[in-house]
Amino acid sequence: MKSRKAIILAGGAGTRLHPLTRIACKQLLPVYDKPMIYYPLATLMLGGIREVLIISTPKDLPQFRGLFGDGAHLGMRFDYAAQERPAGIAQAFLIGEKFIGADGVSLILGDNIFYGKLDFFRDALRVVESDGGACVFGYQVRDPERYGVVEFGPDGKARSLEEKPTHPKSHFAVPGLYVYDRDVVQICRDLKPSPRGELEITDVNRAYLDRDRLNVRVLGRGMAWLDTGTQASLLEASNYIAAIQNRQGLMIANIEEIAFNQGFIDRAGLQSAIATLPKNEYREYLEAVCAESK
Ligand code: G1P
Repeated sequence: MKSRKAIILAGGAGTRLHPLTRIACKQLLPVYDKPMIYYPLATLMLGGIREVLIISTPKDLPQFRGLFGDGAHLGMRFDYAAQERPAGIAQAFLIGEKFIGADGVSLILGDNIFYGKLDFFRDALRVVESDGGACVFGYQVRDPERYGVVEFGPDGKARSLEEKPTHPKSHFAVPGLYVYDRDVVQICRDLKPSPRGELEITDVNRAYLDRDRLNVRVLGRGMAWLDTGTQASLLEASNYIAAIQNRQGLMIANIEEIAFNQGFIDRAGLQSAIATLPKNEYREYLEAVCAESK
């Protein structure tokens, strides 16, 4: 398998969640029993991605480094880079140019939580690996004006893309998970900042759309894409994760469990990861995973 790389962008000022974001940046705030960034990281891992570049502000980067280190305990490789000032999501590809090298790359926003069958992401990786271009998703929401919005033509293909339009042309938001071929870096180099002074991810997607190289896949009703942008939606996301975990006794986004199930680490690797954890429910859960795998 080709080496698969991805960027987690965990920047931003977190203004809307102030004063919560005075103690930690948004992507480190708890979603039920884990830091928020565990969820997008889990999504990448479930897609088979082992090389990850985490981009955050110079102030917050040390905390992410402290949390994940070099990733070896998960059988992964983590790199870190700073975004000096919030100049848009697409700037991540310029910051990450060296990391990307000559490969394709995915990007997930550090506050995007997906739950459900993740085949859609694995399929997108396969399609972009074999045919090139880009793959993004459409997810029906009640309030599309808060997001990038995709409009579909009668043939089911994407017709237009707009960033936070006042009058959205559809109810389909584009979630913060994007799969690109190697052209993405050059596209970002050619990009002009938007009126708000940012390199917009929607402009990157539109560049692929204009070349007829954009694949947009609708995520169906069985998928959850949760919002964490406000105090209320953050609580809803926590309650959602809690409801499912407590019902099933299975953890969502337990990154050590996923690393083990994906074959990134073996049983001995899982045992050493467990040994570093304090005695609590999280550790007991992993001990049970380990015992059951005998
Ligand atoms: C960003 C993107 C938007 C996308 C959203 C998904 O918006 O600009 O296109 O739909 O993430 O979370 P932001 O959340 O930074 O306002």
